[in-house]
Amino acid sequence: MISNKNNSDLTRRDFVRTTAAVATASALVIPTWAHASGDDTIRVGFIGCGGRGTGAAGQALKADPNVKLVAMGDAFEDRLASSLKRLSSSHADKVDVPVERQFIGFDAYKKVIASDVDVVILTTPPHFRPAHLKAAIDAGKHVFCEKPMAVDATGVRSVLESAAEAKRKGLSLMSGFCWRYSYAQRETYGRILDGGIGDVVSMHTTYNTGILGKKPRQNHWSDMEWQMRNWQHFTWLSGDHIAEQACHAIDWINWAMNGEMPVKATALGGRQVRKGAESGNVYDHFSVTYEYEDGRRCFHSCRQIPNCSNDNTAHITGTKGICTINPWGPDCVIKGEKPWRYKGENPNMYQVEHNELFAAIRSGQPINDGIWMANSTMMSIMGRMSAYTGKTVTWEQALYSPEDLTPSHYEFSNVQMPAVAMPGQTEFLPGKAPELIGS
Ligand SMILES: NC(=O)c1ccc[n+]([C@@H]2O[C@H](COP(=O)([O-])OP(=O)(O)OC[C@H]3O[C@@H](n4cnc5c(N)ncnc54)[C@H](O)[C@@H]3O)[C@@H](O)[C@H]2O)c1
Repeated sequence: MISNKNNSDLTRRDFVRTTAAVATASALVIPTWAHASGDDTIRVGFIGCGGRGTGAAGQALKADPNVKLVAMGDAFEDRLASSLKRLSSSHADKVDVPVERQFIGFDAYKKVIASDVDVVILTTPPHFRPAHLKAAIDAGKHVFCEKPMAVDATGVRSVLESAAEAKRKGLSLMSGFCWRYSYAQRETYGRILDGGIGDVVSMHTTYNTGILGKKPRQNHWSDMEWQMRNWQHFTWLSGDHIAEQACHAIDWINWAMNGEMPVKATALGGRQVRKGAESGNVYDHFSVTYEYEDGRRCFHSCRQIPNCSNDNTAHITGTKGICTINPWGPDCVIKGEKPWRYKGENPNMYQVEHNELFAAIRSGQPINDGIWMANSTMMSIMGRMSAYTGKTVTWEQALYSPEDLTPSHYEFSNVQMPAVAMPGQTEFLPGKAPELIGS
């Protein structure tokens, strides 16, 4: 399904590329691309002007001396306006978004992408990510996209195809799985993968937090507007909190297991304190067991319930030691044959992401997080599928599931209130790998 072939005959619309070899040979710091006009400003557009998007846009503007924010898009005018105000006050000389490059509505993404931008930042609720990513990569743009990458398997398969296309086109595709850009975590997982605790035997990660805030429904809001403004409470928009938030801690499992995917998952979950329509249809707790080909098991639990003990950590057991990671400390410790504790520097990982993305674009050496970011998203969705249905789910059944949470329409009108899943009653829709269909 995934082709990693390079597409050597690709020509970027408005760039003249020189090679990294030329830069190295001349021993000068020469950008490996520049606009045909000679202006080497990197033009950024961003879609989804909320909290994370505004943060990411600010980090992009700080990542490179010659970068400009030139286009913005959001479903809602007020969200775009407040984001633009914040960015204009913090980065006045780098924000050039006149009203004709401010786009509102469900198709705002198409207009941002068509605004002669070089890099697109995708920070809407995750439901929209696969379509926005496809449009950006099809148009030849470098992308920074927040996690998770999708809310259903149909979306994950689309993201995998876009990632392969980005590779063919030599475009950078960076994920917002920010811990992959934390110096402390990189050093720690690097040690684990180098045998720092012997062979990894099992792992347990958590993402237990308080409850999410809600935006009370206004009289003039349609169902769609209400759901969109409270997107974290609706599975079709967020993927549920196991995908939306806890995917970070599930990505740690992917990382420690060196990219190997579990063969199956069995999960529990439910909605203990979330009640009523204003809480949408998401659960408030999950617990997943991931089982690997050789019999190893990894475990993840997450909870969003107030007044409980919060925890967001990883515990990795190896044949020669145990690694505990409290990322927020940060405190990364190995106990066992080779005791160790991370003592290095720890710059803001969100800034590191953008520094590395823009350096990759300048150097012509693209970063492509595509496969692992899609796999970590799929592991999270697989856990949700198992919890919602009460069934043990195999990787293949989950990845190729026809489940598609797309609503009947994208309009600010009435939409159905999605049902809360009930284990044992909610149907699981297993899929089959295309090459196995008919076998
Ligand atoms: N990596 C991290 O640490 C981190 C932290 C926070 C959020 N996130 C992720 O970032 C994404 C955004 O989260 P947030 O906290 O900024 O949410 P937010 O609600 O603050 O922002 C989302 C924005 O997207 C807009 N939007 C919704 N649908 C849209 C559409 N179809 N087209 C254009 N705009 C649309 C909303 O109006 C809103 O302004 C989520 O995927 C979230 O999981 C990542």
